[in-house]
Amino acid sequence: MRRPIVAGNWKMYTRSADAHILATAVRNSVMNLEGIEVIICPPALWVSEVLAVVGRGGKIELGVQNMYFEAEGAYTGEISPLMVRDVAKYVIIGHSERRAYFGENNLDVNEKVLAALRSGLVPIICVGERKREGLPKEPRYQLEEALHRVPKKHYRDVIVAYEPVWAIGTGENAEPEYVAKVVSYLREVGLADTPVLYGGSVNSKNVEGYARRPEIDGLLVGSASVRAAEFASICQTWAKEKIFKA
Ligand code: 13P
Repeated sequence: MRRPIVAGNWKMYTRSADAHILATAVRNSVMNLEGIEVIICPPALWVSEVLAVVGRGGKIELGVQNMYFEAEGAYTGEISPLMVRDVAKYVIIGHSERRAYFGENNLDVNEKVLAALRSGLVPIICVGERKREGLPKEPRYQLEEALHRVPKKHYRDVIVAYEPVWAIGTGENAEPEYVAKVVSYLREVGLADTPVLYGGSVNSKNVEGYARRPEIDGLLVGSASVRAAEFASICQTWAKEKIFKA
């Protein structure tokens, strides 16, 4: 179901004590925000610890940044959907860093999306083009592949994050108009009820431009999500603008 969302992907940042401090600061600063869902995705090792800070059923929901698609087994080093289910509700799948550094392909992404849905997790499916181009075909193709064999009725149970690779961690955020155009193009796959997020160098200074575009439901924030004041400011802007529009 479409709804305003701000998600933070902490990537491979924070030691244990930092995670505790950051989660506490985020919890305190978003506690009173109405009308948006806030998701944080810490490193998997810290999820239980962060859960103890933010609590179950509170303002903040938790996610992990990756998982394997088998329910259990001899897969050294992996975490399964069932394990994730015990501590979190969301799982980021197919992030461009997983695709680039860990060889994940569209088939893996599809298996993981199906496994997430089977286990009652909400997959946050990441797609995005590597090079800047007109209306990019790559994210649309990645999305179609990710949703292969997913019944159309489940499209409302996933989240899509459009993250152009060239905008991630570069400070070169994609213009809101451009993002809105690509998001509409992605929705043609059948995503009328699916929340679509934007990610790529979002910060407290450029967030408003995205908040004003009705096509964009939310954000997937990377580096700014490990700075508490910055993340809080992004959440506040999102809540204010999206409520105003409602
Ligand atoms: P940055 O916000 O650091 O560009 O990262 C975006 C991202 O990859 C979120 O998943």
